Amino acid sequence: MKIAIGSDHAGYELKEELKKWLEEWGISYHDFGTYSPERADYPDYAILVAKAVAKGGFDKGILICGTGIGMSIVANKVKGIRAALCRDPYEAKMSREHNDANILALGGRILGKDLAKEIVKVWLSTEFSGGRHKLRIQKILKYEEELA
Ligand code: RB5
Repeated sequence: MKIAIGSDHAGYELKEELKKWLEEWGISYHDFGTYSPERADYPDYAILVAKAVAKGGFDKGILICGTGIGMSIVANKVKGIRAALCRDPYEAKMSREHNDANILALGGRILGKDLAKEIVKVWLSTEFSGGRHKLRIQKILKYEEELA
């Protein structure tokens, strides 16, 4: 599994923690930045990560800003991306099982580190359920095709 990750300044600290967890779990990643706690604009990183995931070079992506809201808004504008803003492990589980989310958005100013770690762990280890949920995803994909 290969993960694309990115953050703005407000998510930088949590992104650095996330890198340690991924290493601990033996999961490879590419860090698209930001590379310091200096002020940075979340759309720049959301677009980089979302495009990398949509192109198929990565299995999933994780984006972190202050609330996770900006990252999820931007990532969901990229065709093929289903970004889910999750604040607890249940949302993380459901976003994979029901929505086949391919990007996880997190709020670095909202979540404690232990909770964030649990959310990431659950999100990365939960499979899409398919079945009736697949039909719903197909409707999203069909709409994206109509927009193109
Ligand atoms: C940065 O101050 C903050 O606006 C950003 O990290 C994010 O929370 C936006 O949604």
